[in-house]
Amino acid sequence: MSAAAGVGPSGPVAVLGAGGIMGLPIARNLARAGFEVRAWNRSPAKAKQLAADGVILADTPAEAADGAGVVLTMLADADAVLAAADGEHGALSAPDMPRVWVQMSTIGEAGTDSCADLARRRGIGFVDAPVLGTRQPADEGKLVVLASGPAELREPLRPLFDAVGQRTLWVGEAGAGSRLKLVTNTWVLLVVEGAAEAIALAEGLGLDPALLFEAVRGGTLDLPYLQIKGKAMTERNFEPSFSLTMAAKDAGLVADAAARNGLELPVVDAVRQRLEQGAREHGGKDFSATYLTSAPAR
Ligand SMILES: NC(=O)c1ccc[n+]([C@@H]2O[C@H](COP(=O)([O-])OP(=O)(O)OC[C@H]3O[C@@H](n4cnc5c(N)ncnc54)[C@H](OP(=O)(O)O)[C@@H]3O)[C@@H](O)[C@H]2O)c1
Repeated sequence: MSAAAGVGPSGPVAVLGAGGIMGLPIARNLARAGFEVRAWNRSPAKAKQLAADGVILADTPAEAADGAGVVLTMLADADAVLAAADGEHGALSAPDMPRVWVQMSTIGEAGTDSCADLARRRGIGFVDAPVLGTRQPADEGKLVVLASGPAELREPLRPLFDAVGQRTLWVGEAGAGSRLKLVTNTWVLLVVEGAAEAIALAEGLGLDPALLFEAVRGGTLDLPYLQIKGKAMTERNFEPSFSLTMAAKDAGLVADAAARNGLELPVVDAVRQRLEQGAREHGGKDFSATYLTSAPAR
């Protein structure tokens, strides 16, 4: 019996984007928690390994979603999400389409509004649920889910969110989760760009950047994230957990939200330009590779 049986959006879960850094472990963890999972990915080969966990691989979003209780989107950006939901062979064209859409990709304020409008027009419940955490927390089912949407879906969705995350924060009406995600991403992006420039400066001044980590060690300025991403920068090991392309996209989403709400955030604008510049050359690398844009020539 499915772990979700007997409650609200019961039945299979269709995971769209099931071959991505985030989508793959989310689909796997749902299957391992007892959900019946159908998976679709644009490049099918990337999701193939899910079959070992009993996940059924579908050729189109509509095929994955047909008869499912929930459709879960974890795709790169708003265009990809809207196409998978409403494009040709989209999930919402399934003959027996899901009653609930859980949207977990990072798509910003305007993208989330478009999805919520679409869900309203098609008469399905919409839960905006972006996540905090990267490859390892996703693998371990330890994401933090920033959920927002109809109160009556909270309990029914608890088993689903518990399967992928260590904590779910319900923050209000649909859209609030994505707004909070923009806030947390602003913090992350500024920290990493700040680390990149501090390390580049140390090297440019002829200092060993390890002295930066040593100087702040154990004090209030020490930060696990500085240690992790700083190590990646000094070792030039940019195996992607969160790609520079996605980080540049997310900085753009923050800048768009600031503009929509009449805010001036010049540091975000500068970081966005820096990330976009890095992404043109190193887009598939981890976003700590933004350091390469500032690094002094060796
Ligand atoms: N990685 C992280 O640390 C992290 C953390 C929190 C949130 N997020 C967010 O989670 C989402 C997924 O990120 P990710 O890191 O998993 O990225 P990823 O590994 O690059 O995966 C992106 C997914 O989107 C699909 N996709 C991209 N463009 C598409 C299109 N035009 N049509 C259909 N499918 C398309 C990809 O399909 P293909 O396999 O065919 O390319 C893949 O399934 C993003 O919104 C990201 O900002 C990521």
